[in-house]
Amino acid sequence: MCKKETGSGWGEVDLLSVEQALRMTDEAELGRFYSEAYDLKLKYRGPCVYFRGLIEISNICRKNCLYCGIRAGNDKVKRYELSDHQVLEEAQFALDAGYGSVVLQGGERSDKAFTERITRLVKEIVKLRKSAPETEGERDLSLGITLSLGEQSLSVYKEWYDAGAGRYLLRVEASGRGLYDKIHPVAGRDRLLHSYECRVKAIGELKEIGFLTGTGVMIGLPFQRYEDLARDILFFREMGVDMVGMGPYIPHGDTPLGELYFRLKGDISGEREVLREYGELFLLNDVEKLELSLKMVAVLRHVMPHINIAATTALQVLSPEGRERALLAGANIIMPNVTDLSVKGEYNLYDGKPGVADDAEATRQRLESNLEKLGIPIGWDTRGDWR
Ligand code: 5AD
Ligand code: SF4
Repeated sequence: MCKKETGSGWGEVDLLSVEQALRMTDEAELGRFYSEAYDLKLKYRGPCVYFRGLIEISNICRKNCLYCGIRAGNDKVKRYELSDHQVLEEAQFALDAGYGSVVLQGGERSDKAFTERITRLVKEIVKLRKSAPETEGERDLSLGITLSLGEQSLSVYKEWYDAGAGRYLLRVEASGRGLYDKIHPVAGRDRLLHSYECRVKAIGELKEIGFLTGTGVMIGLPFQRYEDLARDILFFREMGVDMVGMGPYIPHGDTPLGELYFRLKGDISGEREVLREYGELFLLNDVEKLELSLKMVAVLRHVMPHINIAATTALQVLSPEGRERALLAGANIIMPNVTDLSVKGEYNLYDGKPGVADDAEATRQRLESNLEKLGIPIGWDTRGDWR
């Protein structure tokens, strides 16, 4: 059922045409644009959406990204780390639920105890098999493993790859150096940890090692302009990534950028200056930000029709149907959360994280029924890689 073709989309593409697409406002035109993107997804990737069970292994992070709720400097966060047993149990749930893949995501740490633990866990997850396979083919199915654990040394990436993790997600967050430096700390020791060059280099290294490599950006950041987003699209293409996850920036009150947002949002009188200083996207309302995120998904599907594009959880903060709308605009991956309820609420990258009271089974049922209503089939028990 989930057949695909290979090939390429929008042959020549330039900054201006991408920016024009992102500025589109006519509803009928937008509707056509989304449905063309959806058709491209059908043609190149087939009708199915693929699931990756998301395991939020820890909210301990050495970094201090100015937008993120679990940044090291936020002392209001109750830090946690899942036990090996919990991680393996959640992975087993994902496998039994038919997800085909898991993502281990967590704050960035580079100590040996951490990196060796991940190696061990990856090796254990590779060995898991379905508890009660329904058909013969499922007997041999092992989980695809994606890691989303920040920047690491080349030898650590290699160790994790050799252990059996085939995919790595490392969002560039903002592909232009200027914007990147505005949303990350620029002083002291923190400065060295948040280097734009290292970030871009890391994405290249991951590809070279052989990972199916994913990246992505946030949409609606302070200081961001349409042109930045257009450049992000071209960056994804230049880097030749296999997967992209992008979602709206959602302010978190206990972060420097979140504080800035909430302060400026109330100051209507200075709106014009705010726009000049902080960019034209920072004060978009939820409806506008969701629309812009959908446009990014649709443009990317036109530009890179064969890759995996995630309908990210942050979209669901802006609207209960945010992720489903992204699927209709060309996305083909969803990452249902399978993290233990006891800690799910502590992994707060942004305010208003959806579904924190739903356990993994409730999350699965709700998604399944939403997708059924839309007539989108789910690629059960398969990894859903494009190559
Ligand atoms: N809003 C939206 N996304 C965020 N992330 C971190 N903080 C926020 C926020 N406030 C995203 C980053 C990171 C991913 C794990 O979560 O893009 O790469
Ligand atoms: Fe840490 Fe990632 Fe948050 Fe940055 S975005 S503070 S690296 S968890």
